[in-house]
Amino acid sequence: MKIAITGKGGVGKTTFSSMLSRMFANDGYRVVAVDADPDANLALALGFPKEVYDSIVPISEMKNFVSDRTAASIGSFGKMFKLNPKVDDIPENFCKEYNGVRLLTLGTVDSGGSGCVCPEHVLLKRLCSHLILQNKDVVVMDMEAGIEHLGRGTAESVDAFIVVVEPGERSLQTYRKVKKLGNDIGVKKVFVVGNKIRNKEDEEFIISNLEDGESLGFIYYNQDVINSDRSNQSPYDTSEETRNQVKAIQQQLMKLQNL
Ligand SMILES: Nc1ncnc2c1ncn2[C@@H]1O[C@H](COP(=O)(O)OP(=O)(O)O)[C@@H](O)[C@H]1O
Ligand SMILES: [Mg+2]
Repeated sequence: MKIAITGKGGVGKTTFSSMLSRMFANDGYRVVAVDADPDANLALALGFPKEVYDSIVPISEMKNFVSDRTAASIGSFGKMFKLNPKVDDIPENFCKEYNGVRLLTLGTVDSGGSGCVCPEHVLLKRLCSHLILQNKDVVVMDMEAGIEHLGRGTAESVDAFIVVVEPGERSLQTYRKVKKLGNDIGVKKVFVVGNKIRNKEDEEFIISNLEDGESLGFIYYNQDVINSDRSNQSPYDTSEETRNQVKAIQQQLMKLQNL
């Protein structure tokens, strides 16, 4: 099962990605969590100890490694490099494991303008498609709002795109954008999780903006989740109530995917 989590900034993508990853791991699945957001913080939400967290170097920042694999010399913008770098050993060598979740932190790509293809970009893109196409494990990707960097082919192979929204117009707008973009690059199904819900009206507001069968469920606003963020704990460990809500969402996802 390959899942990509997306949505507007601050809606709860990382919170949800971490809880879903922990849940699959707890159920006995082998899980790879991919931090594909340049503003990487999935490790903290997964409950990684500070020493491990501090030791994480995103793949894109391993300059020598990137240039090794792509045969590009450092800073060689616009020059020749390999478009098919070797990536199959990366998950094994660079994942950090904790609580049964293996984490891969991708990092930022300085794209220097749209349409740019640089060695880091090629390597990350290839790594993403490798994870999605070749990996037998559960892969949960914590993404930026956009999904275009996955590309056609890879996007088609993701089992579910989940857009996290809040009960407000702005995050729903991002959901609509993702859906349109998803259509363009061959994504089969886009699901929605409503987060930071306070009451039934919030639920109804979100549902009224979705098509039938798109909603996976709701996560209620919970002070425990905020507190876990303040104390560098995993929300999975601190809030039973939220965990139960994520469990129901996971079950709905499995059901809709016939798993
Ligand atoms: N259900 C919730 N209840 C309360 N606070 C939440 C909830 N979900 C997320 N948050 C808080 O909202 C903030 C943003 O969440 P985060 O997961 O980092 O969002 P994103 O990854 O989409 O930017 C964090 O401080 C987080 O603790
Ligand atoms: Mg995030």
